[in-house]
Order: sequence, then structure tokens, then C-alpha cells
Amino acid sequence: MAKQKKAIQNTQSRPGEKVKVLIPRVRIQRRILELAKQIRQDFPAEPLLLVGVLKGAVFFLSDLARGIPGEVSLDFIAVSSYGKDTQTSGQVRLTKDLDASIENKTVIVVEDILDTGMTLQYLLRILEQRKPKQMRVAVLLDKLERRIAEVHADYVGFSIPNEFVVGFGLDYAERYRNLQGVGVLTLKKPDKAG
Ligand code: IMP
Ligand code: MG
Repeated sequence: MAKQKKAIQNTQSRPGEKVKVLIPRVRIQRRILELAKQIRQDFPAEPLLLVGVLKGAVFFLSDLARGIPGEVSLDFIAVSSYGKDTQTSGQVRLTKDLDASIENKTVIVVEDILDTGMTLQYLLRILEQRKPKQMRVAVLLDKLERRIAEVHADYVGFSIPNEFVVGFGLDYAERYRNLQGVGVLTLKKPDKAG
């Protein structure tokens, strides 16, 4: 992980919010291409269905999909884990289902970050019941320290420390998804006036 931490150039920070670069865009792009290559090596002749978890995975998925040679198709699923804060509640609910069947397909579930693992555990259970031929998991970021559910990712972009991150798809209250790289968000409680 990069030692030096400079402030991300962004104009959307609100008072009390600060974002410091953790992984710059160039490193992310390089790493995603490695993962894409690895995925194709693992499934040399298979049509692949990438299932992106909205909305956080969209940037990761779009780079990953373009990096994988050969037949690739896409579908999306969305879950909600309640709440706008920096903590997941652990309760997960499906808010948008896939468009098509995954039966007998080779599926790569693409997620932005593996944190407690509750979201992916829930999703994988649902998808497994639909009888894919095989299923793998790709995550851009892995916060190993926070794991509660026993979920394993087959392809991991970066393992990161237990800090709240934003950018490259990851949000805080729906903001910061459009940052080019991944940064650590810190929140400072506003000083009491008077
Ligand atoms: P999990 O269910 O705890 O593994 O959390 C997964 C979901 O929580 C991710 O898909 C993200 O949407 C969100 N999440 C977890 N950690 C972070 C973070 O550091 N920044 C932004 N979103 C996060
Ligand atoms: Mg989120």
C-alpha cells in the first residue's frame, strides 16, 4: 500500500469530510488487467457471465470486462444493506434481480469490496440455488480484518486495512463514486458553535 498520502483532488467534500489517496487510478487499472488475464487463463474456452453488484461494482466491472478476451456477457443485481452510514447493518435485501437465467453458465460475481462478507454470502446463496455451471467471485478490495461471514473471493484486487474507503465506485451516502482512485474517507464531527 502506498505510504505517501496526499489529498485527492476533488471538489465534492463537504465540511468535516476528508479523502486521502489510498490506491491511485493507475495502480487500479494495472491490477484489474492482471485479474482479467488471470480469469481468462482459468477459463480459457468458456463464455463468461459477469454479474455486477450495483452500484459499487460498475467501474471495476467495466474495466474487468474489457480486459477479458473472448466471450463475455454482463448482468446486474442490486442489494441494499440498509442505511447511509459507514457501517453495514448486516441485513441484506435484493432490490434488483438479474435479467436472465444463470443456469449452466460460468458466472463471475463482481463486487466492489468484501467487508463483513454478509452481502456476498447472501448473494452467493441466492445465485447458487439457480444452478450455475460454476461460480467465482471477484472483488476489487478486501477488508479481511472485518470478515464475519465465511466468504472467499477467488480474485482480489487489493487487500486494504480496516478503513472506510470511497472512489472507483465506492460511495459515502451515494457520493464519491466518481473519484478516479480509491481513497480513505475521514469524518470530523463539526465543532460545537459557542
Ligand atoms: P459487507 O456486506 O459488509 O461485506 O459489505 C459489503 C458492502 O458494504 C459493499 O458492497 C459496499 O457497498 C459497502 N462497504 C463496505 N465497506 C465499505 C467502504 O469502506 N466504503 C464504501 N462502501 C463499503
Ligand atoms: Mg455501498
